Amino acid sequence: SHGYFTYDPGFLATGSCESSITFIDGGKGVLQHRGYPIDSLAKQADYLEVCYILLNGDAPTQSEYEQFKSIITTHTMVHEKLVHFFHGFLPDAHPMAMLCGVVGAMSSFYHSDLDITDAAQRKRSAHRLIAKMPTIAAMAYKYSVGQPFVYPRNELSYAENFLHMMFSVPAEEYVVSPIVANAMDRIFTLHADHEQNASTSTVRLAGSSGANPYACIAAGVASLWGPAHGGANEACLTMLEEIGSLEHVDEFVAKAKDKNDPFRLMGFGHRVYKNFDPRATVMRETCHEVLNELGISDPLLDVAMALEKVALEDPYFIEKKLYPNVDFYSGIILKAIGIPTSMFTVIFAMSRTVGWIAHWDEMLSQPGQKIGRPRQKYTGEINREFVPLNKR
Ligand code: SDX
Repeated sequence: SHGYFTYDPGFLATGSCESSITFIDGGKGVLQHRGYPIDSLAKQADYLEVCYILLNGDAPTQSEYEQFKSIITTHTMVHEKLVHFFHGFLPDAHPMAMLCGVVGAMSSFYHSDLDITDAAQRKRSAHRLIAKMPTIAAMAYKYSVGQPFVYPRNELSYAENFLHMMFSVPAEEYVVSPIVANAMDRIFTLHADHEQNASTSTVRLAGSSGANPYACIAAGVASLWGPAHGGANEACLTMLEEIGSLEHVDEFVAKAKDKNDPFRLMGFGHRVYKNFDPRATVMRETCHEVLNELGISDPLLDVAMALEKVALEDPYFIEKKLYPNVDFYSGIILKAIGIPTSMFTVIFAMSRTVGWIAHWDEMLSQPGQKIGRPRQKYTGEINREFVPLNKR
């Protein structure tokens, strides 16, 4: 209907879908949520306003926004028994392992709204997940560093509360700077949704069987964990640290070009964008703002800028359409804020929860929804005679 393409009814049978949440034109580097361009949202709205838009379809009035913010704020605490789940993990457990396990367990705590055929109950589950993910994420970090859990505070904004729960300790309150809070909120927004990516498709497929929202989000967390997807921001920082300094950049660029070398530049390329990822454009501006405001000169940023220059000028990268993606700059900002690389994908998962649950809710609100059943092309043997073991 956009004039971009017409739907082939057959493709709907293969697990693909119709959605009105996010529109991407990979060739033109266009990303819009409910028709609103991503750079307008990132620069003129906060993350909770973007959550409202993704869940409800339109920008909220002031009173609708205040009401939504109040609902989220007053659901940020988790059941005190949920705390015990963390103590079952080994101290060196990856925070994504904790997130995956604890989110899946939420259905045994929040079971008053699990009738997925009831739109109001689906919305309440969505609000609970958006509210509690930062608390659970921060708890995973606190457990991994051996510090006591910090409870949320209602007077703080969504981003300020997350940073408070991450970095405050009983002996000292963490003072959130407006620059850092704004950068954090923008990272949440730029990771909020991205159409039918691997983890969102995972959530939809799980939801199509009637699984409860917490189980579906846990499935999305698991899918996002991979280095080709949400794990790329952690992998990107690890790669920058491995490159180490400017004189090694060419060596790694050559590896990326070598067809016999499985090495890929983390933070580059995209399944859909064959032009610059519009989120990366905003993230790059934010990255420079944060580093300039905080007075941080990070040698890894010098390496990152050298890699970006190669991607924008080297004929190989131009021909392969390999541009820096959203994960490339977010990792540098998170490092500048003092967040460990092991938490990068957790933050991506936290941010993407609203996108996952918006797609889950949209799918379940569509009439005649059937269980997802992607098709296959069978390439194995057929009609073979079976010889019993004692005769083989
Ligand atoms: C995210 O789907 C989404 O929307 C995901 C996401 C979201 O918001 O949900 O946008 C988030 O996952 C971003 C992507 C983060 N992943 C990484 O940064 C990991 C590094 N990137 C690659 O693994 C890769 O680019 C993918 C997985 C992202 C895309 O892989 P594709 O689809 O195989 O890439 P392609 O088909 O466009 O590749 C074209 C060519 C191939 O070479 P040929 O086989 O044609 O010779 O480019 C090569 C690829 O080998 N290539 C790379 C490369 N990415 C692709 N070569 C070196 N370095 C890379 N990063």
